[in-house]
Amino acid sequence: MAKQRRERKLEHYYRMAKQAGYRARSSFKLEQLNERYKLLQRGNVVVDLGAAPGGWLQVARKEVGDEGFVLGVDLQEITKLPYKNVKTLVADITDPSASELIRQNLPRPADVVLSDASPKISGVWSIDHARSIELADAAFTIAGEVLSRGGELLVKVFQGEFFQDFVQNVRKKFDRLKISKPSASRKGSSEVYVIAKGFKRV
Ligand SMILES: C[S@@+](CC[C@H](N)C(=O)[O-])C[C@H]1O[C@@H](n2cnc3c(N)ncnc32)[C@H](O)[C@@H]1O
Repeated sequence: MAKQRRERKLEHYYRMAKQAGYRARSSFKLEQLNERYKLLQRGNVVVDLGAAPGGWLQVARKEVGDEGFVLGVDLQEITKLPYKNVKTLVADITDPSASELIRQNLPRPADVVLSDASPKISGVWSIDHARSIELADAAFTIAGEVLSRGGELLVKVFQGEFFQDFVQNVRKKFDRLKISKPSASRKGSSEVYVIAKGFKRV
């Protein structure tokens, strides 16, 4: 029964994504988080880590408008979006040179860093959790290098034993932090989103 409900929900978001012209169902997660936490503003410079196939890039572009700028980064090539102010890079966000590469491709320090990066799922909870923490740590490091003072970070993490340590590290660098699971996220999945606002650049 629960499985049928889950499948119906996935099918629902799949149909909505198609109607809205989004590349991925995950677009609705960002829409829901943005509605709730008011992350993306007109004119913002946004970095989206783990951005393929580009569903979040589409939502971010809609919110920042013509005046803003969106940079998507992924291991995989992202099919071009039809906007001059959306750029994409192929890069590994865990590579120590990633921050510098991203900075070089921004018009100014970023207002928002998003990360929906996910490891390839092995099915072994502890391994998937550890890999997800590695990606979330990479996003946090990049945010520390590219965000302007007062900037925001939204990052996906699979919950598990290292989750609280991660949250505590992020909390030290930002004024406010929330943890959220949007309704478009599968109930059974361990993923949650950490939203941190007010980056304390020193
Ligand atoms: C769930 S998908 C992102 C979906 C995206 N938010 C959207 O709406 O289209 C996760 C992405 O993380 C990327 N990823 C995983 N590890 C990465 C890494 N080390 N560096 C860059 N991207 C990575 C994967 O290639 C994958 O495209």
